[in-house]
Amino acid sequence: MLELHALRAGYGAVEVLHEVSLRVDAGEIVSLIGPNTAGKSTLLRAISRLGAAWTRGDIVLDDRSLMSSQAHEIAGRGIAHVLEGRHIFPRMTVAENLRLGAWSRRGTQTDADRAARMDRVIALFPRLGERLSQAAGTLSGGEQQMVAVGRALMLEPRLLLLDEPSHGLAPKVVDEMHAALLEINRQGVSILLVEQNAQLALAVSSRAYVLSGGRIELEGPSAQLVQDDHVRSAYLGI
Ligand SMILES: Nc1ncnc2c1ncn2[C@@H]1O[C@H](COP(=O)(O)OP(=O)(O)OP(=O)(O)O)[C@@H](O)[C@H]1O
Ligand SMILES: [Mg+2]
Repeated sequence: MLELHALRAGYGAVEVLHEVSLRVDAGEIVSLIGPNTAGKSTLLRAISRLGAAWTRGDIVLDDRSLMSSQAHEIAGRGIAHVLEGRHIFPRMTVAENLRLGAWSRRGTQTDADRAARMDRVIALFPRLGERLSQAAGTLSGGEQQMVAVGRALMLEPRLLLLDEPSHGLAPKVVDEMHAALLEINRQGVSILLVEQNAQLALAVSSRAYVLSGGRIELEGPSAQLVQDDHVRSAYLGI
């Protein structure tokens, strides 16, 4: 579904990603783990075009290159990006934040379509349903992350790019978030998941890539990487 071919990306004279190749098949959850400054967020932003990085190489969705597309066109092709750090609108209500997510969607849509989509987001995150008229900035960290993911789902994406959705959340909330990701995937959305918590990322994904210093260091089935000595000592603290 999505393929990166020898993707290079950087800022000014600095190259951050060095010929990264990676793919996400339809229906998969693929995780991308790696140390701080490896370039994980840069890679997601290069795909969605949300950010300042220059890119070379090729990014292909369904056999069509995305390299000359702008952010709104990429969103229109069904790729939604939940940025690192949530970026919700704190003074707007939960419902308003969610509704905003629907606007960049491709094709025509009616109020009824948007309402039905909001219902599906609420079914996934019932806590949001109880807080629709609350200012989003007054929610807990976990609830704000649910708003960020829910807002992305309002686009009805085929592919969801998630940048550290469990960062800073309590263990119980992390479990809820990951259960929601599995359910989103079960409903047919492919996921490329960047996680600081490698243990969780490998538990929830079928395949994984390890990015280090802007290069793919290792890749394979997640169940296999969990057993890998280097991954265990460098990323799982075992
Ligand atoms: N807008 C920018 N301008 C210049 N350099 C940047 C910019 N954004 C990121 N970088 C640099 O690119 C490198 C990769 O950053 P990136 O945020 O992609 O890493 P990361 O793997 O997501 O790290 P983390 O785990 O801390 O989120 C870093 O050295 C960072 O300083
Ligand atoms: Mg990052």
